[in-house]
Amino acid sequence: MARTGFPDDLYGDLIASGPGGAAAKRLGLPVPPRLRRYAPGQDFLTGPAVVLRVGTAPPAADVAAWLAAAGAHVVADPDAAGGDRLGAVVVDATAARRLADLAQLRELLAPAFRRTARSGRVLVLGAVPAEVGGDAGAGFAGAFGDVEGRAVQQALEGLVRSLGKEARGGTTVNLLRVAAGAGEALRSPVEFLCSSRAAFVSGQSLLVGPAPAPAPVRERRVVVVTGAARGIGAAIAEVLARDGVHVVCVDVPAAGEQLAHVANRVRGSALTLDVTAGTAPRALAEHLRRRFGGADAVVHNAGVTRDRSFVNLDEAAWDTVLGVNLAAPLRLTEQLLSTDGALAPGARLVCLSSINGLAGAKGQTNYAASKAGLVGFVQALAGPLAERGMAVNAVAPGFIETPMTAAMPPVPREVGRRASSLQQGGLPVDVAEAVAWLASPGAGGVVGQVLRVCGQHVTGA
Ligand SMILES: NC(=O)c1ccc[n+]([C@@H]2O[C@H](COP(=O)([O-])OP(=O)(O)OC[C@H]3O[C@@H](n4cnc5c(N)ncnc54)[C@H](O)[C@@H]3O)[C@@H](O)[C@H]2O)c1
Repeated sequence: MARTGFPDDLYGDLIASGPGGAAAKRLGLPVPPRLRRYAPGQDFLTGPAVVLRVGTAPPAADVAAWLAAAGAHVVADPDAAGGDRLGAVVVDATAARRLADLAQLRELLAPAFRRTARSGRVLVLGAVPAEVGGDAGAGFAGAFGDVEGRAVQQALEGLVRSLGKEARGGTTVNLLRVAAGAGEALRSPVEFLCSSRAAFVSGQSLLVGPAPAPAPVRERRVVVVTGAARGIGAAIAEVLARDGVHVVCVDVPAAGEQLAHVANRVRGSALTLDVTAGTAPRALAEHLRRRFGGADAVVHNAGVTRDRSFVNLDEAAWDTVLGVNLAAPLRLTEQLLSTDGALAPGARLVCLSSINGLAGAKGQTNYAASKAGLVGFVQALAGPLAERGMAVNAVAPGFIETPMTAAMPPVPREVGRRASSLQQGGLPVDVAEAVAWLASPGAGGVVGQVLRVCGQHVTGA
């Protein structure tokens, strides 16, 4: 089996062999680390966890207790870990307001970072810069508000992204912005980003706010996944099923056989539906209402590409891509929201965007427009949905090893695969873990966000 689980990462396979890895190191070539991915029954972390705190204000939350409850052995400081390398380092910098606090952060974090284990986790908790204030008179001219406090909080962004690029051995570095009143809503994001489910998430910043009152959790949650017959959609169905969800697998009639196979494998159900058909929104809404009493989450994953330079792009290539990738999620969501009983209370929506949608890509004006459009869709809908106790977010995958990327010409494929801090393509399961987490009841404090699952890819970083 290839080390990446994909047959054509020849370089990755070569490096995985002892002599190949040693030769690559000597030549200064990238040595992609083997990532530790989630497997049932494995230890939560690869070593003890430490929770550090900048400043003297009370901590944002009892992170140490959450980590311990998730199975971590939490030690008071890096030295208390004995000779063990650290599985997770969490730094609560929410109270940092002065440059001296940043200096303290460096002092605390540097020795711990040096001692992180392979596939370790570094997580910085920061405040929301726009919420920093009210401290007039202190620091930078009080008349302007707490300018120094905001600058210090923004500084965390650069620090975390740089640290992600310096991390080795599959260690990831991320930032959680803790909004006022987030409280318990922070727990699930902390657990996710410290876990092996987030193996391909690094260099990211995510905002966490207060979660609405939780809706009653049904015995078996029901989640719709469009484009579930193969690739990332099939992986999403598998991860959701692993987590006890009934998955309604949707795909075009032409993919019916593959779809039935996936639905059987995950003990879910299959619904053949072209999401662009005029009748699709009503058919899906009625199916969910009648058969399940509403869906707990909908994953808009179905997507297509028709790459061509802008001047050579014909109407069909434009319409197909915009129709599947953007118009269908808009129309389906509109109908689901206006059909009583199609969505369960507290429902979650997750859209599959793309880092190419955030950054743009040559030959992909149609695709990037559709994927950037989904980000706008998520941001516009976040507020109104939050008022209904629902949440919508996007996941933006980077280079993922799928038949889509396997079909790329060899040179751009190899460049794309290595151009991230983790120096390899992600696997469909990496995207699936992030989607399943955002669709889970615990993720209620994350709303209107775009989570990149890209190993900190250089594109649009
Ligand atoms: N593979 C990557 O590297 C990558 C990177 C960024 C984003 N994405 C996004 O992730 C999603 C999944 O990508 P993938 O690589 O698994 O793609 P894929 O081509 O392997 O699978 C897409 C699925 O969507 C289905 N589909 C297409 N049109 C449909 C329609 N009209 N109605 C219902 N189903 C339809 C297809 O039949 C297929 O099963 C897409 O939205 C894609 O844009 C993928």
